[in-house]
Parts: sequence; structure tokens; C-alpha cells
Amino acid sequence: MTGSRYYITTPIYYVNDVPHIGHAYTTLACDAMARFMRLDGHEVLFLTGTDEHGQKVEKAAAKAGLEPQIFTERLSRLFRDLLPSLNVSNDDFIRTTEFRHIQSVQEVWRRLVKNGNIYLGQYAGWYSVRDEAYFSENELVDGMAPTGAPVEWVEEPSYFFNLSKWQEPLLRYYEENPDFIAPRSRRNEVVSFVSGGLHDLSVSRTSFKWGVPVPNDDDHIMYVWLDALTNYITAAGFPDCASETYTKFWPANLHVVGKDIVRFHAVYWPAFLMAADLPLPERVFAHGWWTNEGKKISKSLGNVIDPLELIETFGLDQVRYFLLREVPFGNDGDFSRSAMIGRMNNDLANDFGNLSQRVLGFVAKNMGGVIPTPGNFTNDDAALLDAAERLLSRLRDEYQSQAFNRALETVWNVVGAANRYIDEQAPWALRKTDPERMSTVLYTLMETIRYLAILMQPIVPTSAGRMLDQLGVGIGARDFRCLTEAHRLSPGIKLTKPTPVFPKYTETK
Ligand code: MSP
Repeated sequence: MTGSRYYITTPIYYVNDVPHIGHAYTTLACDAMARFMRLDGHEVLFLTGTDEHGQKVEKAAAKAGLEPQIFTERLSRLFRDLLPSLNVSNDDFIRTTEFRHIQSVQEVWRRLVKNGNIYLGQYAGWYSVRDEAYFSENELVDGMAPTGAPVEWVEEPSYFFNLSKWQEPLLRYYEENPDFIAPRSRRNEVVSFVSGGLHDLSVSRTSFKWGVPVPNDDDHIMYVWLDALTNYITAAGFPDCASETYTKFWPANLHVVGKDIVRFHAVYWPAFLMAADLPLPERVFAHGWWTNEGKKISKSLGNVIDPLELIETFGLDQVRYFLLREVPFGNDGDFSRSAMIGRMNNDLANDFGNLSQRVLGFVAKNMGGVIPTPGNFTNDDAALLDAAERLLSRLRDEYQSQAFNRALETVWNVVGAANRYIDEQAPWALRKTDPERMSTVLYTLMETIRYLAILMQPIVPTSAGRMLDQLGVGIGARDFRCLTEAHRLSPGIKLTKPTPVFPKYTETK
């Protein structure tokens, strides 16, 4: 990682349709990452936005009977409005129809031309509007794109980017930067694709108009992927390379994408940047795809999952937790109602929520809600506190590799240890026999919960925040610098009456 700034991006979403769980998933993963880095003291730029040009969007607008400008405005708003509902902490939202972006793409184009990487030719081949991608005859499978999308024959004048020339530089970059593409299986795929040889890429279209005009040749608009990928550098201030934002945030630390768009991000994007003499991002992480109760999610099957409905049914933090806990980031995952309810009730309500409610409820009932003064810590107390203290460095490693599920497993090991500790120490039995020891036990537990709640903020920000409220931890004492002995809870402080933070799901709800 470079210094203490961190730039993370989601893909920008096509505005041909309304947002669904796939969009919410990528954005939430980035949100967890961005929140973690902020709490860990980094200055973060977290970008998301909408991809508004191209044939796919133009067709969707026509189908809706609207001008593309009006249509994209409307749909982009839906994506933007979803963010607060998901409690997403993005710092910027970019639209490819914005002036700042058009300026930036045109400057990238000029640089590519200046460096001799673009030439005029004639494209003749297959195009899939759904994928916004070109395919050669031998890539087709039963007359369709490898993704199953229909293709159409396109023959038109086109500018080409000399992608073939970048094969060796790309392979060298992958070699020298083994963490550039993750997970490893995706990296292997990309390396073997590039090793197989690259064809020059058509980067302009003449048969429709909805795109950024090619500088000095209005007959052409830019290929939507050249336009879209450039959003990442636009939001970092390009073409003003002297700006504070640019010098601070470019190159990006992490582009999170779905597995279907790895090639664009790990092959085309770094090639464009090299060819334009611009620095390359540090890492591209490709996550897997969700199915719904074992079935591929598709409009024709009518099983698209609406993130707002999910939140309505199960609660926002519950959904955030589920999506990042259930499936290793990078693998495909299946959304099932029973798994969702299982995680919500077992992990959140029983394990974590109940731990805090039991402890704080006991303190409220038996100690007037005042943070107890601990006596000397025994080995058992110290072991639990040590386990909590060791979490941060483990979590840094897991987040660094986007292993959210392992990060959560690691946290749950300590949740489990705390639950065993409370049963073993049985503070309720100490109340009459040894009140001083009872105070130490409760204090040890409260301190452990403080650590857990602080560390869980990236995933369940609202609920962790409520837990910290109930522990009397001030807003200014919730970042990771406070995960030390020096910031321990102050005995004698009176707390508010605790209420359960993680409700159980009941079918009647
Ligand atoms: N506009 C391009 C990205 C340009 S980035 C410079 C695009 N947009 S998209 O709206 O079609 O897809 C956005 C993301 O949603 C992709 O990363 C894709 O992998 C993800 N998902 C779409 N369906 C999904 C699932 N069912 N499950 C998980 N993610 C899925 O591609």
C-alpha cells in the first residue's frame, strides 16, 4: 500500500436497468473495505457511479420511449439513491455523461494518438450489445457470445488501439506484480488469455451516436469500455495531473469488479494506461456471482433479488453481514432464505448480540448500569483480552486480501471465546460470593465487546455503533487507534439501559 491514502472503486453500473443484488454486493464489499481503511487511519477515496453511454443503454432508452439523456438521468438517480439505503460511505459518485469525464476520456484519447497507439481501420466482426464486447468467429459458441448473449455482425470504419503491442509489457507487469489480479484463479485465466496473443481492439463506433465523440473526428464515438474504464482516473482529477486529488489518489489501490468483467480491467485498462503513459492501479479483485435458491438470476426467470426488499425483510446490517460472511469473496454464492435467516439468528442474534445483551443487561440490573472497577486480571481474563487485542493485525491481513469471510470468522472466534468465558466465570454466581471478582469478569467482557464492536463497524456500522453507544464509547473513540489498553472503558461511568442490537427473525414479521 502506498502511504496513508487509499483509493477504492466499484465498477460503474450500466443504467439499462434497475439496481439488483449483484450491484449492491460489489458496492457493499467496497464499503466495508473503505470503512476499514478509514478507521485504520487512511485517507480514503471511495468511488462508485454509473456507466451511461453505449448501445446497450441507448437501446434501453429507446425501448422506454425516452431520449437517452432523460432516461440515463432517471436511472442513474436510482443507483445513487440506493446508496444511503445501503449505508454506503462513498466519497464521490461519477456519471460518464458528466463534463469532467468527457474531458478526461478525450484527453486519454489524445494521449493514445500522440503516442502512436491508435490507427484508423475497418471493423468487421461480431458484437454483443449485452456484453458491449467484440468477438471473433472462433470465440462464438453455437452462434452466441461465450456469455450466452446474442451477437450481431458489425462492419464499419473504426479506430483501433494497438493492443497486440502490449502483450509483453502486460505479461511483465503481471509477473512483477503478482498481486495485481486476485483471486489467483482469475490471475491464471488472464495470464493464459494474454499469453495466447492479443488482437488490436476496435475503440470507436460509427453506427450510433450515444457516446463521447472522438476528438477531431465527429463521425466516431468512443467504444464504451474505453469511456467507462477511464472513469476511475477522471474521479482522481485527471487530466489535471497537478491537482491534489490526482497526486494523492492516482494510481488507485483497488478496483473491485465481478468475474465477468476481469478482462476489461486486467487487460484493456492497464494496456490503455501504459499506452497513455499513466501509472497502473495496484490491484483488481474479481468477486463471484450470486444465484437465487440455486438458480441463475435473470429477468426472464423473474427471480431478480431487489436489495431494498431484502433490507426491508431482514434488516440492513443483517444483509451486509450475510453477503460478506456467507461466501468467500471471489467465489460464487447462493442466496437462500434459510441461510440468510440462519446467519441472522445464529451469528448475529445468538452469538454476538446476546453476548452484549447478557453482559450489559446484567450490569444494568445488578450494578445500577455503572461500568465496574476491575481488580487484578487472572490468566483467563488476560487470555480473552489478549485475543481481542490480537484481532486488529489479523484483520488487517484479511482485509488486505479482501478475505471478508475469514475476517469475520476470526472475529467470531473471539465472540465464541467470550461466550465460553461468561459461562465458565458465571458472574451471576459471583454476585453473592465474590462481588469484586464479578466486577473484574464483567469489566473484562465489556472491554472485549468494545474491541469487537469497534472492529465490526465496517460490516455492520449501525448496529456496532449502537453497541458502542450502550458501552458509553464516544464517537471520537471508535477508530482503530483506540484499540489499546490506553483507551479502556472508564469505570464509574453510568450507561444507558441496553436493548438488544440484533433482533431474531421470526416468520410472522
Ligand atoms: N458497466 C459495466 C462496468 C464498467 S466498469 C468500468 C458493467 N456494469 S453492470 O451493471 O452490468 O455490472 C456491474 C457489476 O455487477 C459487475 O461487476 C457484475 O459482475 C456485477 N453483477 C451482476 N450480476 C451479478 C450477480 N448475480 N452476482 C454478483 N455480481 C453480479 O458491467
